[in-house]
Amino acid sequence: MRQDSLTTPAAYSSLARFFHWATVLLLAGQFAIAWTMPDVHRGTQPVGLIAWHLSVGMLILLLVAVRTVWRFTHPAPPELPSIPRPLAAVARLTHWALYLLLIALPLMGWANASSRGWPSFLGTLLPLPALTPEGSPFGHSLGDWHGVFAWVLLALVGLHASAALFHHFVLRDATLRRMLPASRDSA
Ligand code: HEM
Ligand code: HEM
Repeated sequence: MRQDSLTTPAAYSSLARFFHWATVLLLAGQFAIAWTMPDVHRGTQPVGLIAWHLSVGMLILLLVAVRTVWRFTHPAPPELPSIPRPLAAVARLTHWALYLLLIALPLMGWANASSRGWPSFLGTLLPLPALTPEGSPFGHSLGDWHGVFAWVLLALVGLHASAALFHHFVLRDATLRRMLPASRDSA
């Protein structure tokens, strides 16, 4: 058999790969919505694209919360032996920073929505409690931090994706292949 993606050693499991690429798709949609939705001011109503932003954001929070709990009990496959240890440590640190941001960012948005008196729905299926009281200055300032941390997340994702492409096209190792949908399960 050819030495291609189907024979990648120690690939991520199919569930890990599903979580990864579902998060990527949802995040791409979420940024597209965030950058096209109307500016949010005092008195703005959570309708149209803003409502979509809230729902997709809550979906990301739910997905990443489940993914993180699952990940604590399902370690990543062993690192490729060709990767220097300090570099592997940086990659691991980046991954955990991504998990942290993917949880903190929606929570900040949720708190900001609560301080505006908006109900935080996941669609209309799941009414969720307010994280901050209506009119809360803390919830209001978290809206600003939400915008700042969205850029931090984007920068980290840029670094992460560039590293993956560098491994694939320059170093030509199996780093990216073992996260691609076509790779074979490690377990
Ligand atoms: C990972 C998920 C999320 C990402 C990447 C994200 C990203 C963004 C971005 C880029 C903006 C525009 C910031 C600006 O122009 O200043 C924004 C604004 C906003 N987001 Fe999110 N968001 C997410 C989740 C959520 C959630 C779950 C909620 C609420 C339930 C939410 C509520 C808001 C609100 C209310 C604003 C307007 C804030 C303001 O201008 O004061 N976001 N978001
Ligand atoms: C929204 C953007 C992204 C986020 C939030 C994200 C997040 C993550 C996280 C948290 C992990 C660690 C998985 C684990 O061990 O639990 C990971 C692994 C990985 N990601 Fe991403 N990722 C994103 C986009 C991308 C893109 C665009 C690529 C490819 C160009 C990519 C390629 C990889 C690869 C190859 C791994 C495995 C790395 C290794 O084996 O050390 N990711 N990603």
